[in-house]
Amino acid sequence: MYTQALNEKDAPFTTGRSDDPIKLERFQAIIDAEDKVEPNDWMPDAYRRTLQRQISQHAHSEVIGMQPEGNWLTRAPSLKRKATLLAKIQDEAGHGLYLYAAAETLGMSREEYYEQLLSGRAKYSSIFNYPSLTWADMGAIGWLVDGAAIMNQIPLCRCSYGPYARAMIRICKEESFHQRQGYEIMVTLSRGTPAQKAMAQDALNRFYWPVLMMFGPSDTESMHSADSTKWKIKRFSNDELRQKFIDATIPQGQHLGLTFPDPDLKFDAATGHWTHGEIDWSEFKRVLAGDGPCNRQRMKVRKAADAEGTWVREAAAAYANKRADRQRIAKIAAE
Ligand SMILES: [Fe+2]
Ligand SMILES: [Fe+2]
Repeated sequence: MYTQALNEKDAPFTTGRSDDPIKLERFQAIIDAEDKVEPNDWMPDAYRRTLQRQISQHAHSEVIGMQPEGNWLTRAPSLKRKATLLAKIQDEAGHGLYLYAAAETLGMSREEYYEQLLSGRAKYSSIFNYPSLTWADMGAIGWLVDGAAIMNQIPLCRCSYGPYARAMIRICKEESFHQRQGYEIMVTLSRGTPAQKAMAQDALNRFYWPVLMMFGPSDTESMHSADSTKWKIKRFSNDELRQKFIDATIPQGQHLGLTFPDPDLKFDAATGHWTHGEIDWSEFKRVLAGDGPCNRQRMKVRKAADAEGTWVREAAAAYANKRADRQRIAKIAAE
């Protein structure tokens, strides 16, 4: 409702100090009214920085997240599995593109965000620093990693920042396909030979705890939660989302006839929720700090891909320049 009044079209990317009381009050009124904040609207510095960090790290995660699954493309057990996995990985590349585009509307270029990733200044989801050791990992990743991503991302479809919210709507539709293709692999393996079922159980054992860590530490320890909640970037706490995920996932695992690697897991009939054991946050911090099983490998592959793609980007830019020159000359000639 206040969007028009705050549009400062002559000065895109207007940012203000968070202590500018009148603008701040009008900004918060947009958010409280569930209207969207758009790129040219005034916004506090801290809101812009929070979104730049969150959206770009989300984009980096989509791109790095292609690696563990790309590892199995040449070894998929059938043509159908290969085609499905390929489509899923291509979707993740697309998610990266939508998200970099959304992040660019906050006044920083894709190259700058990319530089932050390549230099190690920006993080990506810790889960992608774990290896994919068997075909069953393709099932566990789709079922659990994409399943956890959906829990996190559905509320982001209502995020206060318009470009991010709109990108998330399409991404969530695709994530739901990813979750199902993963679960279907787990169903097939669980109903297969004893060796296949053991492979599915092993994948669940290895991915379960790192997936629970994907939701981040408890909100009491999380640095950015209070502002993100006030600005409606975040609708649920990390613990609430983790609980929703556990409540949805345990019955799915039981349907597979698999067990979860948590001896303290039990259903609390009084609350209707599953209670779980302690999460090893020291592992999370270690992996996030760069010392997970695959951090170095992931960045090495990403940097090599970036270097190998330089000539493509240069060729595309040269072509765009030539085309712009031709159009300019044609325009002059026509005048
Ligand atoms: Fe994705
Ligand atoms: Fe996905």
